[in-house]
Amino acid sequence: MTDAMASITESIGPHLAAVERRFHDELDSDLRCVNTLVKHVSRFRGKMLRPSLVLLAGKATGGLRDEHTTIATVVEMVHMATLVHDDVLDEAELRRKGATINHLRGNEAAVLLGDFLISHSFHLCSSLSSQYASRLIGRTTNQLAEGELLQIDNRGNFDLDEETYLRIITRKTASLCAACCHLGAWINEAPAEQTAALETYGLSLGMAFQIQDDVLDIVGDVSTVGKTLGIDVEKGKMTLPLIHFMRTAPAEHRSLLRSLLAGNDPDKSEQIRNLILPSGSIDFAVNRAHQLVDKARQALRLLPSSDALQTMDVMAEFVVNRPH
Ligand code: IPE
Ligand code: IPE
Ligand code: MG
Ligand code: MG
Repeated sequence: MTDAMASITESIGPHLAAVERRFHDELDSDLRCVNTLVKHVSRFRGKMLRPSLVLLAGKATGGLRDEHTTIATVVEMVHMATLVHDDVLDEAELRRKGATINHLRGNEAAVLLGDFLISHSFHLCSSLSSQYASRLIGRTTNQLAEGELLQIDNRGNFDLDEETYLRIITRKTASLCAACCHLGAWINEAPAEQTAALETYGLSLGMAFQIQDDVLDIVGDVSTVGKTLGIDVEKGKMTLPLIHFMRTAPAEHRSLLRSLLAGNDPDKSEQIRNLILPSGSIDFAVNRAHQLVDKARQALRLLPSSDALQTMDVMAEFVVNRPH
C-alpha cells in the first residue's frame, strides 16, 4: 500500500479491520474446498477503496454505527465478486500480485466463487432491518452487469465514442462508488442534499478511478500495478486514450492503430503503447480524470468541514495519482 493510501485509511483503520473480520466470518464455510478458494482471494488485500468510501461518508455525516461495518463488508464482497468474474472475462492471470482464481483453478471455479461472493453480499445486506440498502445495492449490481455487457457489445468497435465509454465506466465502476457514499450517509439519516453531494462525489471519483485504471492498463508497470496489463487492447476494448487518439491522430497513425488492434501480434500492447505515448492522448485522458476529481472535490463543499471530509478530499487526488 502506498503512503498516501496508508494515511487515508489510518483514520478508519480499526473499522477497516472490523470489515476484514466480518468478511472472513461471513464467508466461512464447513466445506474445505470453499474455504480454500476464499482464502486465496482474501490473502491478497486490495486498496479497500469502496469500504473506505462507506466509512468516510459515515464519519462525514455524524459518525459510525454497526450498519456502516455491515455495508462496508457488503460492498467489498460485491467488488470482489466482480473482480473474480472480470478476470474470467479478461482471461487475466494476475490480480493483487497473486494468481487469479481462473488461472489457478479454471473458469468454472472462478464463476462459482464469484457467485458465492455476490450471493453472500446480498445475504449479509438483507440482515439489515430496512430493505433500502439491499434495493440500492441490487440496482447497483444491475448497472454493473449492464456496464460490462455494454462493454463487450462494443468489443472490436474501434470507433467507440467518448459518450458511450463514459456510459460504460459509469455503470461498471462509478455506480458502486456512488452507492457506497450514498449508503454511508443514509445510515446516519443525513440531510438529502448532503447525501446527494456525497453521491456526486462517489460517482465522479469512480469515473476518474476507472479512467486512471485504463491509463495504467496502457502505461503501467506490472510489478507495481500487480495485475495483468495490456488486456484492454488485447480484448479490443477502446478506452479513453485510444478514443482520443482515433479522433485526433494523423490518418496514417489511426490506420496503424486500427490494424494493430485488429491483429494478433504477440507484442501488440507494446506497439500500441509506443504509438500512443508521444501523441498526447494519455495526457488528454489524465486531464479528463483530473476534471472529474475537481468535480468530486467541489461536491464536498456542500458538507460541514471535518477530518473525514478532508480525508475524502485527499482520496480524490489519490485516485488519479495512484501507481496501482
Ligand atoms: C479494480 O478496482 C477494478 C476497477 C474498477 C478498475 P481496485 O483497483 O479498487 O481493486 P483492488 O480492490 O484495489 O484490488
Ligand atoms: C473492471 O474493469 C471493472 C469492474 C467493474 C469489474 P477492468 O477490467 O478495467 O478492471 P481491472 O483492470 O481488470 O481491475
Ligand atoms: Mg479486467
Ligand atoms: Mg483495467
